[in-house]
Amino acid sequence: ADIPVICIDGPTASGKGTLATAVAERLGYHVLDSGVLYRLVGLAAERQGIPTDAASLTQPAVAERLGQLAATLPVRFDAGRVWLDGEDVSDAVRTESAGMAASRVSALPPVRQALLDLQRRFRALPGLVADGRDMGTVIFPDAALKVFLTASAEQRANRRHKQLISKGIPARIEDLLADLKARDARDMSRQDAPLKPAEDALPLDNSAQSIEESVQQVLAWWQARR
Ligand code: C5P
Repeated sequence: ADIPVICIDGPTASGKGTLATAVAERLGYHVLDSGVLYRLVGLAAERQGIPTDAASLTQPAVAERLGQLAATLPVRFDAGRVWLDGEDVSDAVRTESAGMAASRVSALPPVRQALLDLQRRFRALPGLVADGRDMGTVIFPDAALKVFLTASAEQRANRRHKQLISKGIPARIEDLLADLKARDARDMSRQDAPLKPAEDALPLDNSAQSIEESVQQVLAWWQARR
């Protein structure tokens, strides 16, 4: 537990991934994008024909199967790509539908339990920057620095829209806004590891900040903690 961890938690499309990656790069630390693990569970379920609609998820047998799936996820991270069962799913995990499926399966305690150890194994020298919803509250409660990153829903929908359009993926801002509000609501209201700031988290609202400004803020906090 002497290995330093910086946690960056916050809602959908707040820029956690971008910030975590940039901070990790400056410090030479490892990075954990925990959302990708839940996205992989959703994707693997789809590939295996396990239903992830809201009604099916209330069935204990389905929850159990998904827990099993999460515990034995045939995942490989390699050279910035993600492989699931030998298939490069780096792009597939980033779609809106994968995000929604992730949000649904992530509410299941067996799934969260199965991913606990996997996430903690990312903690390696010289240090780790972890982003998600419960990094500071559940996975790394002893982290040396916890940041809770937010931005207005409109700002987040706008950024997501730009991202998708730049990739040639058509999207409507109204749909994205509705999706991310639904995802926020589900992530905040679930029983198990809901999205909420850790008591000792420092709030950071990046609505009016450049990425570099956010990076500098986190690095300044980190310096002050060491
Ligand atoms: O961050 P990202 O959008 O990739 O996460 C996808 C979904 O996975 C989130 O909406 C959330 O429901 C779930 N998640 C979670 N705990 C985490 C990271 C993600 O429940 N630590």
